[in-house]
Amino acid sequence: MAIYPFIRPMIFALDAERAHALTIAGLKAAPLGAPPPSPPALSVRVAGLDFPNPVGLAAGFDKNAEVADKILALGFGFAEVGTLTPLPQSGNPKPRMFRLVADQGVINRLGFNNAGQASAAERLAARDRTRGIVGINIGANKDSEDRIADYEAGVRTMAPLADYLTINISSPNTPGLRALQDEGALDALLERSMAARGADVTPVFLKVAPDLEPADIDAIARIAIDRAVDALIVGNTTISRPDLKSRHGAESGGLSGRPLAALARQRLADFRSATGGAMPIIAVGGIDSAKEAWARICAGASLVQLYTALAYQGPGLGRDIVRGLERLRKRAGFASIAEAIGSAGRTD
Ligand code: FNR
Repeated sequence: MAIYPFIRPMIFALDAERAHALTIAGLKAAPLGAPPPSPPALSVRVAGLDFPNPVGLAAGFDKNAEVADKILALGFGFAEVGTLTPLPQSGNPKPRMFRLVADQGVINRLGFNNAGQASAAERLAARDRTRGIVGINIGANKDSEDRIADYEAGVRTMAPLADYLTINISSPNTPGLRALQDEGALDALLERSMAARGADVTPVFLKVAPDLEPADIDAIARIAIDRAVDALIVGNTTISRPDLKSRHGAESGGLSGRPLAALARQRLADFRSATGGAMPIIAVGGIDSAKEAWARICAGASLVQLYTALAYQGPGLGRDIVRGLERLRKRAGFASIAEAIGSAGRTD
Protein backbone atom coordinates (compact mmCIF):
# COMPACT_ATOMS: atom_id res chain seq x y z
CA MET A 1 0.00 0.00 0.00
CA ALA A 2 1.25 3.50 -0.79
CA ILE A 3 1.47 4.46 2.88
CA TYR A 4 3.49 1.41 3.91
CA PRO A 5 6.89 3.14 3.49
CA PHE A 6 5.77 5.66 6.11
CA ILE A 7 4.43 3.08 8.58
CA ARG A 8 7.32 0.65 8.17
CA PRO A 9 9.78 2.48 10.47
CA MET A 10 7.27 2.21 13.32
CA ILE A 11 6.74 -1.48 12.69
CA PHE A 12 10.47 -2.09 12.34
CA ALA A 13 11.08 -0.32 15.67
CA LEU A 14 9.34 -3.29 17.28
CA ASP A 15 10.77 -6.74 17.83
CA ALA A 16 9.98 -8.81 14.70
CA GLU A 17 7.70 -11.29 16.42
CA ARG A 18 5.78 -8.55 18.24
CA ALA A 19 5.35 -6.68 14.95
CA HIS A 20 4.02 -9.85 13.37
CA ALA A 21 1.51 -10.38 16.19
CA LEU A 22 0.28 -6.80 15.75
CA THR A 23 -0.06 -7.32 12.00
CA ILE A 24 -2.24 -10.38 12.58
CA ALA A 25 -4.31 -8.47 15.17
CA GLY A 26 -4.71 -5.60 12.67
CA LEU A 27 -5.86 -7.97 9.94
CA LYS A 28 -8.30 -9.67 12.31
CA ALA A 29 -9.80 -6.30 13.21
CA ALA A 30 -9.99 -5.04 9.61
CA PRO A 31 -13.31 -5.33 7.77
CA LEU A 32 -13.44 -8.22 5.34
CA GLY A 33 -13.51 -7.09 1.74
CA ALA A 34 -14.03 -9.16 -1.37
CA PRO A 35 -10.84 -10.30 -3.14
CA PRO A 36 -9.99 -7.94 -6.01
CA PRO A 37 -10.68 -9.57 -9.38
CA SER A 38 -7.62 -11.16 -10.98
CA PRO A 39 -6.93 -10.76 -14.70
CA PRO A 40 -8.55 -13.85 -16.29
CA ALA A 41 -5.36 -14.71 -18.19
CA LEU A 42 -3.57 -15.24 -14.87
CA SER A 43 -5.68 -18.18 -13.76
CA VAL A 44 -3.82 -21.46 -13.36
CA ARG A 45 -5.15 -24.96 -12.81
CA VAL A 46 -3.04 -27.12 -10.50
CA ALA A 47 -4.12 -30.40 -8.88
CA GLY A 48 -7.67 -29.84 -10.08
CA LEU A 49 -7.89 -26.45 -8.35
CA ASP A 50 -8.52 -23.23 -10.26
CA PHE A 51 -6.22 -20.58 -8.83
CA PRO A 52 -7.38 -17.06 -9.83
CA ASN A 53 -3.73 -15.98 -9.98
CA PRO A 54 -0.46 -17.77 -9.24
CA VAL A 55 0.74 -15.62 -6.31
CA GLY A 56 0.21 -17.18 -2.87
CA LEU A 57 1.11 -16.29 0.68
CA ALA A 58 3.48 -18.91 2.10
CA ALA A 59 3.02 -20.83 5.35
CA GLY A 60 4.20 -19.30 8.62
CA PHE A 61 2.44 -15.94 8.34
CA ASP A 62 -1.00 -17.16 9.42
CA LYS A 63 0.12 -20.05 11.60
CA ASN A 64 -3.24 -20.37 13.38
CA ALA A 65 -5.60 -19.88 10.44
CA GLU A 66 -6.97 -16.60 11.76
CA VAL A 67 -6.81 -14.34 8.72
CA ALA A 68 -6.92 -16.50 5.58
CA ASP A 69 -9.82 -14.58 4.06
CA LYS A 70 -8.14 -11.24 4.79
CA ILE A 71 -5.07 -12.48 2.93
CA LEU A 72 -7.21 -13.44 -0.05
CA ALA A 73 -8.80 -9.99 0.07
CA LEU A 74 -5.31 -8.46 -0.32
CA GLY A 75 -5.20 -10.01 -3.80
CA PHE A 76 -3.27 -13.22 -3.18
CA GLY A 77 -4.47 -16.08 -5.36
CA PHE A 78 -4.26 -18.49 -2.42
CA ALA A 79 -3.29 -18.55 1.24
CA GLU A 80 -1.48 -21.34 3.05
CA VAL A 81 -2.12 -21.46 6.79
CA GLY A 82 -0.01 -23.28 9.41
CA THR A 83 2.21 -25.04 10.12
CA LEU A 84 -0.35 -26.63 12.43
CA THR A 85 0.64 -29.51 14.70
CA PRO A 86 -1.88 -31.89 16.32
CA LEU A 87 -1.30 -30.46 19.82
CA PRO A 88 -0.67 -26.81 20.70
CA GLN A 89 2.97 -25.99 21.39
CA SER A 90 4.84 -22.86 22.37
CA GLY A 91 7.93 -23.22 20.18
CA ASN A 92 11.49 -22.18 21.03
CA PRO A 93 12.59 -19.56 23.59
CA LYS A 94 12.41 -15.91 22.49
CA PRO A 95 13.90 -14.00 20.77
CA ARG A 96 13.54 -16.35 17.81
CA MET A 97 12.79 -14.17 14.80
CA PHE A 98 15.21 -11.59 13.39
CA ARG A 99 15.01 -9.07 10.57
CA LEU A 100 18.14 -8.82 8.46
CA VAL A 101 17.28 -5.40 7.07
CA ALA A 102 20.53 -4.79 5.19
CA ASP A 103 20.00 -8.11 3.41
CA GLN A 104 16.20 -7.91 3.04
CA GLY A 105 16.03 -11.26 4.82
CA VAL A 106 14.73 -12.88 7.99
CA ILE A 107 16.13 -15.63 10.23
CA ASN A 108 13.58 -17.51 12.32
CA ARG A 109 13.79 -20.41 14.73
CA LEU A 110 10.18 -20.28 15.91
CA GLY A 111 9.82 -24.07 16.11
CA PHE A 112 6.18 -24.54 15.06
CA ASN A 113 4.61 -22.34 17.73
CA ASN A 114 0.88 -22.76 17.17
CA ALA A 115 -2.42 -23.23 18.95
CA GLY A 116 -2.96 -26.73 17.58
CA GLN A 117 -5.16 -28.26 14.94
CA ALA A 118 -8.42 -28.45 16.88
CA SER A 119 -8.89 -24.69 17.35
CA ALA A 120 -7.76 -23.94 13.79
CA ALA A 121 -10.20 -26.55 12.50
CA GLU A 122 -13.06 -24.76 14.24
CA ARG A 123 -12.16 -21.45 12.58
CA LEU A 124 -11.65 -23.05 9.18
CA ALA A 125 -14.96 -24.91 9.39
CA ALA A 126 -16.73 -21.60 9.98
CA ARG A 127 -15.36 -19.89 6.85
CA ASP A 128 -17.11 -19.60 3.51
CA ARG A 129 -14.96 -21.75 1.24
CA THR A 130 -16.18 -20.05 -1.92
CA ARG A 131 -14.07 -17.00 -0.95
CA GLY A 132 -10.87 -18.56 -2.25
CA ILE A 133 -8.25 -21.26 -2.04
CA VAL A 134 -6.82 -22.05 1.39
CA GLY A 135 -4.15 -24.68 1.85
CA ILE A 136 -3.44 -26.16 5.27
CA ASN A 137 0.17 -26.90 6.16
CA ILE A 138 0.63 -29.68 8.72
CA GLY A 139 3.57 -30.76 10.85
CA ALA A 140 4.55 -32.92 13.81
CA ASN A 141 4.78 -31.97 17.47
CA LYS A 142 8.32 -31.65 18.78
CA ASP A 143 7.74 -34.21 21.56
CA SER A 144 5.77 -36.67 19.48
CA GLU A 145 6.89 -40.29 19.79
CA ASP A 146 5.52 -41.18 16.35
CA ARG A 147 5.92 -38.26 14.01
CA ILE A 148 4.34 -40.04 11.06
CA ALA A 149 1.25 -40.63 13.21
CA ASP A 150 1.12 -36.83 13.72
CA TYR A 151 0.94 -36.33 9.95
CA GLU A 152 -1.77 -38.99 9.67
CA ALA A 153 -3.75 -37.21 12.40
CA GLY A 154 -3.24 -33.88 10.62
CA VAL A 155 -4.50 -35.32 7.35
CA ARG A 156 -7.58 -36.79 9.02
CA THR A 157 -8.45 -33.56 10.88
CA MET A 158 -7.64 -31.10 8.13
CA ALA A 159 -8.35 -32.76 4.77
CA PRO A 160 -12.11 -32.10 4.95
CA LEU A 161 -11.41 -28.38 5.55
CA ALA A 162 -8.58 -27.82 3.07
CA ASP A 163 -8.43 -27.06 -0.62
CA TYR A 164 -5.01 -28.67 -0.42
CA LEU A 165 -2.81 -30.04 2.34
CA THR A 166 0.91 -29.39 2.63
CA ILE A 167 3.07 -31.98 4.31
CA ASN A 168 5.87 -29.93 5.79
CA ILE A 169 8.98 -31.96 6.51
CA SER A 170 11.42 -29.15 5.87
CA SER A 171 11.39 -26.82 8.85
CA PRO A 172 14.93 -26.57 10.25
CA ASN A 173 13.59 -25.66 13.68
CA THR A 174 12.17 -28.98 14.89
CA PRO A 175 15.16 -31.24 15.60
CA GLY A 176 15.17 -34.32 13.36
CA LEU A 177 12.13 -33.27 11.30
CA ARG A 178 14.03 -33.03 8.05
CA ALA A 179 15.18 -36.65 8.45
CA LEU A 180 11.69 -37.44 7.15
CA GLN A 181 13.06 -36.40 3.76
CA ASP A 182 15.31 -39.50 3.81
CA GLU A 183 14.21 -42.15 1.35
CA GLY A 184 12.76 -44.86 3.62
CA ALA A 185 11.14 -42.42 6.04
CA LEU A 186 9.64 -40.34 3.24
CA ASP A 187 8.12 -43.33 1.52
CA ALA A 188 6.48 -44.52 4.76
CA LEU A 189 5.32 -41.00 5.60
CA LEU A 190 3.70 -40.49 2.22
CA GLU A 191 2.16 -43.95 2.10
CA ARG A 192 0.51 -43.46 5.49
CA SER A 193 -0.44 -39.81 4.92
CA MET A 194 -2.06 -40.47 1.54
CA ALA A 195 -3.94 -43.44 2.99
CA ALA A 196 -5.19 -41.32 5.93
CA ARG A 197 -7.31 -39.31 3.47
CA GLY A 198 -9.69 -42.26 3.08
CA ALA A 199 -12.26 -41.50 0.42
CA ASP A 200 -11.37 -37.79 0.58
CA VAL A 201 -9.26 -36.75 -2.41
CA THR A 202 -7.91 -33.47 -1.08
CA PRO A 203 -4.70 -32.76 -3.02
CA VAL A 204 -1.47 -33.22 -1.07
CA PHE A 205 1.58 -31.03 -1.62
CA LEU A 206 5.03 -31.83 -0.21
CA LYS A 207 7.21 -28.98 1.06
CA VAL A 208 10.94 -29.65 0.89
CA ALA A 209 14.06 -27.93 2.17
CA PRO A 210 16.48 -26.12 -0.13
CA ASP A 211 19.38 -27.77 1.73
CA LEU A 212 19.52 -31.04 -0.21
CA GLU A 213 22.16 -32.95 -2.14
CA PRO A 214 21.53 -33.99 -5.77
CA ALA A 215 20.97 -37.64 -4.73
CA ASP A 216 18.33 -36.53 -2.17
CA ILE A 217 16.57 -34.48 -4.81
CA ASP A 218 16.34 -37.42 -7.21
CA ALA A 219 15.06 -39.75 -4.47
CA ILE A 220 12.45 -37.25 -3.21
CA ALA A 221 11.22 -36.61 -6.76
CA ARG A 222 10.90 -40.33 -7.48
CA ILE A 223 9.08 -41.15 -4.23
CA ALA A 224 6.76 -38.15 -4.58
CA ILE A 225 5.80 -39.28 -8.09
CA ASP A 226 5.38 -42.93 -7.00
CA ARG A 227 3.17 -41.92 -4.09
CA ALA A 228 1.08 -39.63 -6.31
CA VAL A 229 1.83 -36.41 -4.45
CA ASP A 230 0.02 -33.59 -6.28
CA ALA A 231 2.74 -30.90 -6.20
CA LEU A 232 6.10 -30.02 -4.66
CA ILE A 233 6.69 -26.79 -2.75
CA VAL A 234 10.33 -25.81 -3.31
CA GLY A 235 11.03 -24.79 -0.68
CA ASN A 236 11.44 -23.84 2.92
CA THR A 237 14.04 -21.65 4.66
CA THR A 238 17.76 -22.53 4.48
CA ILE A 239 20.23 -23.30 7.23
CA SER A 240 23.02 -22.21 4.87
CA ARG A 241 24.42 -18.70 5.21
CA PRO A 242 25.35 -16.91 2.03
CA ASP A 243 27.30 -13.67 2.58
CA LEU A 244 25.16 -11.54 4.88
CA LYS A 245 25.67 -7.93 5.89
CA SER A 246 23.32 -7.83 8.87
CA ARG A 247 24.55 -8.23 12.45
CA HIS A 248 21.90 -10.94 12.93
CA GLY A 249 23.40 -13.09 10.16
CA ALA A 250 24.96 -15.53 12.64
CA GLU A 251 21.69 -16.33 14.46
CA SER A 252 20.67 -19.96 14.16
CA GLY A 253 17.48 -20.93 12.35
CA GLY A 254 16.10 -20.74 8.83
CA LEU A 255 17.05 -17.90 6.52
CA SER A 256 14.44 -16.48 4.13
CA GLY A 257 13.99 -13.53 1.80
CA ARG A 258 16.38 -12.08 -0.74
CA PRO A 259 19.51 -13.97 0.43
CA LEU A 260 17.62 -17.24 -0.24
CA ALA A 261 16.66 -16.35 -3.81
CA ALA A 262 19.70 -17.78 -5.64
CA LEU A 263 19.50 -21.14 -3.85
CA ALA A 264 15.71 -21.31 -4.33
CA ARG A 265 16.11 -20.67 -8.08
CA GLN A 266 18.69 -23.46 -8.28
CA ARG A 267 16.46 -25.92 -6.41
CA LEU A 268 13.54 -25.10 -8.68
CA ALA A 269 15.72 -26.01 -11.65
CA ASP A 270 16.95 -29.17 -9.87
CA PHE A 271 13.45 -30.42 -9.00
CA ARG A 272 12.18 -29.50 -12.43
CA SER A 273 14.79 -31.70 -14.04
CA ALA A 274 14.44 -34.47 -11.43
CA THR A 275 10.67 -34.67 -12.02
CA GLY A 276 10.97 -34.20 -15.77
CA GLY A 277 8.03 -31.83 -15.56
CA ALA A 278 5.80 -34.70 -14.33
CA MET A 279 4.72 -32.82 -11.22
CA PRO A 280 3.70 -29.19 -10.67
CA ILE A 281 6.19 -27.16 -8.63
CA ILE A 282 5.38 -24.21 -6.39
CA ALA A 283 8.39 -21.90 -6.15
CA VAL A 284 9.12 -20.16 -2.84
CA GLY A 285 12.15 -18.30 -1.51
CA GLY A 286 13.16 -14.70 -2.03
CA ILE A 287 10.35 -13.77 -4.40
CA ASP A 288 9.90 -10.04 -3.96
CA SER A 289 8.78 -8.64 -7.33
CA ALA A 290 6.73 -9.43 -10.42
CA LYS A 291 9.99 -9.86 -12.33
CA GLU A 292 11.20 -12.55 -9.93
CA ALA A 293 7.80 -14.29 -9.90
CA TRP A 294 7.73 -14.23 -13.71
CA ALA A 295 11.27 -15.66 -13.91
CA ARG A 296 10.30 -18.58 -11.63
CA ILE A 297 7.18 -19.30 -13.69
CA CYS A 298 9.17 -19.26 -16.92
CA ALA A 299 11.69 -21.57 -15.20
CA GLY A 300 8.92 -24.10 -14.53
CA ALA A 301 6.94 -23.03 -11.46
CA SER A 302 3.17 -23.41 -11.82
CA LEU A 303 2.58 -21.19 -8.79
CA VAL A 304 4.71 -19.03 -6.49
CA GLN A 305 4.52 -18.13 -2.80
CA LEU A 306 6.19 -15.48 -0.68
CA TYR A 307 6.38 -14.36 2.91
CA THR A 308 9.48 -12.34 3.87
CA ALA A 309 9.08 -9.68 1.16
CA LEU A 310 5.67 -8.82 2.58
CA ALA A 311 7.35 -7.53 5.74
CA TYR A 312 9.64 -5.29 3.69
CA GLN A 313 7.17 -4.09 1.08
CA GLY A 314 3.81 -4.15 2.83
CA PRO A 315 0.34 -5.58 2.28
CA GLY A 316 -0.04 -4.31 -1.30
CA LEU A 317 2.76 -6.56 -2.54
CA GLY A 318 0.53 -9.47 -3.62
CA ARG A 319 -1.62 -7.24 -5.74
CA ASP A 320 1.41 -5.38 -7.18
CA ILE A 321 2.97 -8.67 -8.26
CA VAL A 322 -0.31 -9.83 -9.82
CA ARG A 323 -0.55 -6.60 -11.83
CA GLY A 324 3.10 -6.81 -12.82
CA LEU A 325 2.69 -10.43 -13.96
CA GLU A 326 -0.18 -9.40 -16.20
CA ARG A 327 2.02 -6.73 -17.81
CA LEU A 328 4.89 -9.18 -18.28
CA ARG A 329 2.57 -11.79 -19.77
CA LYS A 330 1.27 -9.33 -22.34
CA ARG A 331 4.75 -8.10 -23.17
CA ALA A 332 5.95 -11.68 -23.73
CA GLY A 333 2.96 -12.38 -25.99
CA PHE A 334 1.47 -15.35 -24.09
CA ALA A 335 -2.29 -15.80 -24.23
CA SER A 336 -2.28 -17.04 -20.62
CA ILE A 337 0.19 -17.36 -17.79
CA ALA A 338 -0.24 -21.12 -17.99
CA GLU A 339 1.51 -20.97 -21.38
CA ALA A 340 4.50 -19.25 -19.77
CA ILE A 341 5.11 -22.08 -17.26
CA GLY A 342 8.47 -23.63 -18.14
CA SER A 343 8.77 -21.53 -21.29
CA ALA A 344 12.38 -20.60 -20.50
CA GLY A 345 13.45 -24.20 -21.07
CA ARG A 346 11.39 -24.85 -24.21
CA THR A 347 12.96 -24.80 -27.62
CA ASP A 348 9.74 -24.73 -29.69
C1 FNR B 1 8.36 -19.44 7.71
N1 FNR B 1 8.17 -20.53 6.85
C2 FNR B 1 7.36 -21.58 7.24
N2 FNR B 1 7.14 -22.62 6.39
C3 FNR B 1 6.33 -23.64 6.75
O1 FNR B 1 6.11 -24.55 5.96
N3 FNR B 1 5.73 -23.64 7.98
C4 FNR B 1 5.92 -22.64 8.89
O2 FNR B 1 5.34 -22.67 9.98
C5 FNR B 1 6.77 -21.57 8.53
N4 FNR B 1 7.03 -20.55 9.40
C6 FNR B 1 7.78 -19.46 8.99
C7 FNR B 1 7.95 -18.38 9.85
C8 FNR B 1 8.69 -17.28 9.43
C9 FNR B 1 8.85 -16.10 10.35
C10 FNR B 1 9.26 -17.25 8.14
C11 FNR B 1 10.06 -16.06 7.66
C12 FNR B 1 9.10 -18.32 7.30
C13 FNR B 1 8.85 -20.59 5.53
C14 FNR B 1 8.08 -19.86 4.46
O3 FNR B 1 6.83 -20.45 4.22
C15 FNR B 1 8.89 -19.86 3.13
O4 FNR B 1 9.06 -21.19 2.69
C16 FNR B 1 10.27 -19.21 3.29
O5 FNR B 1 10.21 -18.13 4.16
C17 FNR B 1 10.84 -18.74 1.96
O6 FNR B 1 10.01 -17.76 1.36
P1 FNR B 1 10.32 -16.17 1.49
O7 FNR B 1 10.01 -15.81 2.90
O8 FNR B 1 11.75 -15.97 1.14
O9 FNR B 1 9.38 -15.51 0.53
